[in-house]
Amino acid sequence: MLALNYCERLNGLITARTARVGVCGLGYVGLPLAAAAARARFDVLGFDIDEQKVEMLNSGRSYLGTLSSKLLDEVLADGRFRATGNFARLTECDVIVVCVPTPLTRQREPDLSFVEATATAIAKRLRPGQLIILESTTYPGTTNEVVKPILQRSGLTAGEDFFLGYSPEREDPGNAEYGTAMIPKVVSGDGTAARDLAAQFYGSIVEKVIIVSSNETAEAVKITENVFRAVNIALVNELKLVYDAMGVDIWEVIEAAKTKPFGYMPFYPGPGLGGHCIPIDPFYLTWKSREYGVPTRFIELAGEINAAMPHHVVSRLQDALDRLRAKTLAGARILLLGLAYKKNVSDVRESPALKLMELLEKKEARVEFHDPHVREIPPTREYSNYAGRLSVCLGADTITDYDAVLIVTDHDAVDYSILANATLVVDTRNACIRRGLRFANLVKA
Ligand SMILES: NC(=O)c1ccc[n+]([C@@H]2O[C@H](COP(=O)([O-])OP(=O)(O)OC[C@H]3O[C@@H](n4cnc5c(N)ncnc54)[C@H](O)[C@@H]3O)[C@@H](O)[C@H]2O)c1
Repeated sequence: MLALNYCERLNGLITARTARVGVCGLGYVGLPLAAAAARARFDVLGFDIDEQKVEMLNSGRSYLGTLSSKLLDEVLADGRFRATGNFARLTECDVIVVCVPTPLTRQREPDLSFVEATATAIAKRLRPGQLIILESTTYPGTTNEVVKPILQRSGLTAGEDFFLGYSPEREDPGNAEYGTAMIPKVVSGDGTAARDLAAQFYGSIVEKVIIVSSNETAEAVKITENVFRAVNIALVNELKLVYDAMGVDIWEVIEAAKTKPFGYMPFYPGPGLGGHCIPIDPFYLTWKSREYGVPTRFIELAGEINAAMPHHVVSRLQDALDRLRAKTLAGARILLLGLAYKKNVSDVRESPALKLMELLEKKEARVEFHDPHVREIPPTREYSNYAGRLSVCLGADTITDYDAVLIVTDHDAVDYSILANATLVVDTRNACIRRGLRFANLVKA
């Protein structure tokens, strides 16, 4: 069959919603996407190497707080979604979307092993007429330079026998205002047929599609969005230190500055970066830029400033304990309030709370944590030794047991008024003042 015929056939299947969609990697990105595709009346097969996840999903249990079991039940009941670990079934899919992790190695270089493994699994079963789309965040060039050659090992040619696109995920877990279908989707492809098919596919799932000219451009869009955040967060983190030395409150400054109706966008300081994106993705670009001999000083500097924040917080806590309690960190009981990397989610990947726990324990503090969304610390790559630690109860009677409470994440589900009884509160998120709680024992960090 000619490329044009494959394209027309796929076009017809997508329009009629008879295309079967495969989603590889059922995590924070892949699972909501699979649910959105199923809701858009596609027949969806979710693939994951984690058998436990597959089992949970097929029995209607969601492991993401951000995707309700109700929605899962709805798509399972209709028979529009099933999870599987049997990658031989990739051949049943007309459209395959790849949403696997793209972390950094120990040497802080891009780790594309998950993307490569998935591409290899697809290549083994690739058949003519399939559309493959990479969604994982990565440096410009990955889809065409890394994924395409692996897929072409099948003997099939991109743009002729199969179609290859890239569309960055912009999922914002915990954001109730913007679900998957409401977030505009940037789409591209290797050639016009792939691009148009990818745009048609996403156009049937999300409200708005933005087509860009190449996969490299679409990859650069996502990296740009995350670099923008990393750099701006670094900037306010630096301003926090400068203003603090001058006796000016950064939070008050930002609240007033954001009243300017144009030319300003608020970013907020914090205890350090967390999550799967902002601390990691900019370094995909800095790594790739070395190939072109172009320095990325701005991005590296932002990384340095943000990475220094947990150290700054520990030093503020140490000073406050010394000044107000005449105590050192050694032997002090510290409660970390909030363990997740951002508010109202349970995700602890790259969370600054784990770094803080490590720094404080190195100084021999006795550290516990409370997080309404994290009952138990799951295994993480960098802090596997913390796996299994349990969240303690937060009560007005027990809060006095701690020498200091360190607010790391400002979850809405926490009753901050309890902290009125605490010996010392160190707040990295301005959580108390924002709620009108002005305790005498409060220090900002
Ligand atoms: N989490 C976010 O907020 C977010 C937002 C935008 C973009 N992203 C990007 O999306 C990608 C996925 O991130 P995530 O947060 O969903 O990761 P995740 O760790 O939550 O999920 C990834 C899933 O892929 C599975 N997996 C790993 N190797 C696989 C393979 N070979 N085949 C099939 N499944 C496999 C894992 O078991 C896991 O369930 C990353 O590139 C990330 O940078 C994440």
